[in-house]
Amino acid sequence: MRRRTNHRLRGVIFRSPETAGVAPREDPRRRQPSTEKGVKSVLGVQTSSVRQGVIRKYRDWLPQIPDPAIATLGEGDTPLIEAPRLSERIGARLHLKFEGMNPTASFKDRGMTVALSRAIAEGNRACVCASTGNTAAAAAAYSARAGISCFVVVPVGKIAMGKAVQVLAHGAKVIQIEGNFDAALKLSLKATEELEDIALVNSVNPDRIEGQKTASFEVCESLGRPPDVLALPVGNAGNITAYWKGFKEWREADLADLTPRMLGFQAEGASPLVAGYDFERPETVASAIRIGAPASRESALGAVRESGGLIESVTDEEILDAQALLAREEGIFCEPASAAGVAGLLKLARERRGPEGVAVSVLTGHGLKDPDVILARSSLPDPIPATFEALAASMERG
Ligand code: F0G
Repeated sequence: MRRRTNHRLRGVIFRSPETAGVAPREDPRRRQPSTEKGVKSVLGVQTSSVRQGVIRKYRDWLPQIPDPAIATLGEGDTPLIEAPRLSERIGARLHLKFEGMNPTASFKDRGMTVALSRAIAEGNRACVCASTGNTAAAAAAYSARAGISCFVVVPVGKIAMGKAVQVLAHGAKVIQIEGNFDAALKLSLKATEELEDIALVNSVNPDRIEGQKTASFEVCESLGRPPDVLALPVGNAGNITAYWKGFKEWREADLADLTPRMLGFQAEGASPLVAGYDFERPETVASAIRIGAPASRESALGAVRESGGLIESVTDEEILDAQALLAREEGIFCEPASAAGVAGLLKLARERRGPEGVAVSVLTGHGLKDPDVILARSSLPDPIPATFEALAASMERG
């Protein structure tokens, strides 16, 4: 950067994540393949087509839904973004499926459009769900769209601020319970057994899984083939179940002859699938996956077994580090839980167990969902006088 006056800046103000100071950034497009495995750095971003919503786009793959019952907000068609810097760290060609680009900023919208539309087609007038936040936000938005009532049952004080705000904005009824997600799910299930005309829209509802599997179709379409591995966070275990179902159906339809290895990652303090027993008091900074007794345990373990994959845990520190790398090195801001897949890939690479070939990690929700996590680690600086001298001095400090 050139200055016109005698105030010469000591360096270039392009910040590199390592130095937080004055090192110029390398142009990644000029970089040569630099690992032994030939990872190539390009900044490809792909989407498939017009956003018409997953029901209309994948009609033949989904349960029947009459047109007037379709409640959509144009979900799906999220970008698959190449991640050159993280690819170098991981040693495989990494792509990020950024599900934070859905209408309510998480992957839940794919399942919610199908679950809500089917609920309406069957004559329901309300829906209920237990949630760590994102399911609640999606249920609230799609219920508003469909014109039905929505009740969300959440663990008191445990859902991230952005998600709570979404639910309130859409006018759903929030019921905070003095218990965790697992208790909330049991209560929601009970409510649909005891009350009439109300649908459960958690991922134990198979319509949710049907909708969510469309993300694996998009991944295959964007890459032109299935990836070699798919890494994603695991909480209640619906999403890993859905992706695996989608990849299998893609292969069964003769659109590919391979399916990816499924790599699921739980937060260490909420890792019942890794430990082999339920956690009574799950605890993690990744509030979206703070779940001690996953409802889709069997199908998740089946996906891992059948695909030759794995399910492991990552620490909160590894999750937050991965979230920061994604934001600072790739320009993608996802919430902590969403970074668990990348945290897991980085861990495998450190332990020389990293995947080869083409890897996809699913970034399940947007970073704006959980501003408090960022604000707990950094804050806005004190103001400076409104003078150029003070501005220049501040910029020089980096
Ligand atoms: N990532 C995010 C951002 C989530 O919100 C969730 C689940 C997951 C990953 C894990 O997906 O449960 O299918 O294994 N959130 C649920 C909710 C539990 O209530 O919003 P899963």
